[in-house]
This record gives sequence, C-alpha cells and structure tokens, in this order.
Amino acid sequence: MNQRFAIIMGATSGIGLEVAKTLASLGWTVGIAGRRQELLQQLQRKQLNIVATECIDVTRDDAPERLQALIGKTGGMDLYFHSSGIGYQNTELDMERELRTVETNVLGMTRMVGAAFHYFEAHPERPARLAVISSIARTKGLGPAPAYSASKRYTSNYLEALAQLCHIRRLRHISITDIRPGFVRTALISGGNYPLQLQPEKVAKQIVKAMERGRSVVTIDWRYRLLVFFWQLCPRWLWVRMRIIKDA
Ligand SMILES: NC(=O)c1ccc[n+]([C@@H]2O[C@H](COP(=O)([O-])OP(=O)(O)OC[C@H]3O[C@@H](n4cnc5c(N)ncnc54)[C@H](OP(=O)(O)O)[C@@H]3O)[C@@H](O)[C@H]2O)c1
Repeated sequence: MNQRFAIIMGATSGIGLEVAKTLASLGWTVGIAGRRQELLQQLQRKQLNIVATECIDVTRDDAPERLQALIGKTGGMDLYFHSSGIGYQNTELDMERELRTVETNVLGMTRMVGAAFHYFEAHPERPARLAVISSIARTKGLGPAPAYSASKRYTSNYLEALAQLCHIRRLRHISITDIRPGFVRTALISGGNYPLQLQPEKVAKQIVKAMERGRSVVTIDWRYRLLVFFWQLCPRWLWVRMRIIKDA
C-alpha cells in the first residue's frame, strides 16, 4: 500500500490526540501540531508513525508557513485534519471570551483550512481529504455559548462551500468532511455537567471510519444523530423561549 500522510492540527489533547494515535496505529505517517510543544514531543516519543511536530498557533499570521514546514518534515499531506478549537459557557457574554472563540474557531480555522486547500490544489496527483470538527452545537444558536455555536455553524457552512467550490473548479481529487460530534469527555467541557458524554477514543475510531468511507458529513454518535434530527425541527419562536440551562 502507498504511504499515506496525515497532518493533525490540535493534536495535544482530546479528539485530535486520539485521531492522531488512531491514524498512526493504522500505519499512516503522521505530523502533529498545536501550541503546547512539550505535549507534542511526548506524543511523538510514545507513538510509532508520528514522525514530526510543529508548534502552531492558528490565530497567528505565521501559522500557514509553519504548516508548510510540518508537511515538509512529515513527507507530504494526503489528509488535513483540523481539531483546534476553544469554547466556553458564556452566559455573561464576556467579550474577551467571545472574541477569542471567533479568532480561533472562525479566523484560525479559515486560515488553516485555506492553507491546506491551496496545498492540495497544487498537488492534484494524489487524492486528498480535508476534515474539520464542527459540532452538533452548529444546529441552532445556543444562548449559553453564542460565539461557540455560531462559530460551528460557520465551520459547517464553510466546508459546504468548499465542497461546492471543488466541483466548480473540477478539483475532483479533493474531498471534504464535516465532523459533528455530540458531547465528548475532553478538557473542552471539563467541569461542566453535560449529559451523554462520549469517550474520545471511541469518537476517534468513528471519525477515522467515516473518513475512510469517504463521508462528507458525519454526526457522532447515533444518539446525537437522532437528537439533531428532532432538534432541527424545533421552530425558532419556540427554541428562543426554551431555558436550556438552569439558573441563568
Ligand atoms: N468535547 C466536546 O464535547 C466537543 C464536541 C463537539 C465538537 N468539539 C470540537 O472538537 C475540537 C477538539 O476539541 P476537544 O474536545 O478535543 O478539546 P481539547 O482537548 O481542549 O482540544 C483542543 C485542541 O485545540 C488546540 N488549540 C486550541 N487553540 C489553539 C490555537 N490557537 N492554535 C492551535 N491549536 C489550538 C489545543 O492545543 P493547544 O492548546 O496545545 O494549542 C488542543 O489540541 C474543537 O474544535 C471542539 O470545538 C468538541
């Protein structure tokens, strides 16, 4: 089998970390990135097939250059997987948190996905996949997390737009995957009292399976697929009147 190369952005913890480990165990040659260099190096030391690391902050202008350096060190890129993201419960509408969320999840995601798209565009000789984690939070505006839910809606729409752009520009070698997990037990939601939490290891396996099957959209897991089905039927007038958390 041809050697396959994956770059994981946001691999220092949570879902990105587990996806990196899963791909490496399946024989992919993996390059990983995030801001916490020490964690990246630890993971590289522990896991066979993770061959390169790069300290990348997606909110910085130099991030695309650093991605290019990581691709070079890894040996190529057939899969770009974007897991980097932040989120808060923000019923106080703390502007610093709102803007930081937009900077990372909207601007940072757009910057990095754009850089990966241009790389794939310039390498039509191999099939390529661009996969990004949005969330089921994209389904409706969430009062307790306004910037987060809106940023995930943006992510989904952006990926849909890129998928159409690939058709318009006949970039048939590029595939796009929008990954929409429910609550996953990671640092992102630690401390909160969230129901139905999924294990990151299991979520990573389902993500990898969905990508290998060439899925363009995947909601994880089946219980959340059911929930989202009914949730999106809820009319706006009713949704905005629902007090979805206590004491706010
Ligand atoms: N946990 C959930 O319930 C859940 C549900 C649906 C969707 N998601 C989404 O899944 C993705 C991964 O989150 P997680 O749950 O795995 O949380 P996590 O453990 O906190 O992981 C977040 C990752 O994003 C990276 N990151 C954050 N800011 C960054 C920046 N400025 N530049 C580069 N990397 C950055 C972090 O690395 P560094 O700190 O080292 O930079 C870390 O590796 C996020 O997009 C999140 O919105 C999570």
